[in-house]
Amino acid sequence: LSDEADTNPIVCFCHRVRLDEIVKAIRGGSTTLEKVQADTAASTGCGGCEYDVIEILEKELAKAG
Ligand code: FES
Repeated sequence: LSDEADTNPIVCFCHRVRLDEIVKAIRGGSTTLEKVQADTAASTGCGGCEYDVIEILEKELAKAG
């Protein structure tokens, strides 16, 4: 369990959305914050994880070129 917490941490605690769900959504075409929000519900609660979601988004988009 702690392994998963390390490699696949919860990014959005309001909706218990983990890193891999967000990465999958981005790779599946959710290439804006709004689309990731619609797709995963991440960052649609308190908004406290918004910066983290944006950071993941930017990293994935940079990787994708
Ligand atoms: S932690 Fe993601 S919206 Fe609250």
